[in-house]
Amino acid sequence: MSVFPYVPLEQRPWRLAMGLRPLEESKWLEVDARRNEELALKRRLVNEQRDTVVAVREAGEAASHELLDLVLENLATYHPHVARDVASSEHPIVQASLLVQEDLCVLVHDGQWRLEAACVCFPSRWSLVHKIGTTLDDIHVPVPGYDEELAQPTNAFFGRLKPERSFWRLNWTLLDDATLHQPSSRRQPARGGPDQWFFRVERQTLRLLPVSRAAVFTIRTYVASVQQLRNEHEDFADNLLAALDSAPSAIKAYKGWEGVADQLRVALARS
Ligand code: HEM
Repeated sequence: MSVFPYVPLEQRPWRLAMGLRPLEESKWLEVDARRNEELALKRRLVNEQRDTVVAVREAGEAASHELLDLVLENLATYHPHVARDVASSEHPIVQASLLVQEDLCVLVHDGQWRLEAACVCFPSRWSLVHKIGTTLDDIHVPVPGYDEELAQPTNAFFGRLKPERSFWRLNWTLLDDATLHQPSSRRQPARGGPDQWFFRVERQTLRLLPVSRAAVFTIRTYVASVQQLRNEHEDFADNLLAALDSAPSAIKAYKGWEGVADQLRVALARS
């Protein structure tokens, strides 16, 4: 039985936080048994829905080349057993993205940090077309409380990034659909009951490229059914309920969590 790698539910109430932790170079990219399946899905999306999953601008070119070299070097060093054949006619950020299960974004500082190149095959209900060329602050406009609580610390953090010190963070949500590729920006409460819901975790990393001084943001998406996590973790349902109950109402609306805690409570009382 598979064991889900991250269950970022805390005992304390839900809060909007940067939650960044130091990241070792060896742990930048994660390779698991789903690699072949996920890379095949990425190749299909790049071929069939390129405009949805790839967005590149001139300002992101140099950094995309540098990122591809770094991905190849990291795989050769820490994951030498995996295939590293690249489609060399492709844009470098697409080549890099087709080698790893992570989605890849490059942000360049031009007075503000701006998204200049990305290959995002597994978005969690947001659209790359709307975000490319925009700033870190603009990207996060839909997130309630981001502007007041996170914009300033996040920009300051980007300003202090150094190539030798990378970081990672986790976030999670609950959806009624296990599909990895979810580009629609409509967020609605999960339908059905808890036995049809999925826990979706993003492991995000952040680092600065030494030559171009662009920032690289990776997003790795893990999905498991609520049922599986209830079986694997005794306190999963209680912690999930506590997090859902304590989220502010604007966050509940943004995440599609309205009414979800009550449904979970009813299901738990029955089981
Ligand atoms: C330290 C860095 C960052 C922090 C603390 C941060 C924080 C957040 C938070 C709290 C959310 C709400 C999502 C949720 O909890 O489900 C969010 C959403 C999002 N973030 Fe970030 N973020 C960071 C960097 C980035 C970067 C570099 C990108 C570049 C692509 C990005 C793209 C997004 C997008 C696309 C969303 C969804 C927005 C939407 O609903 O339209 N984030 N971020």
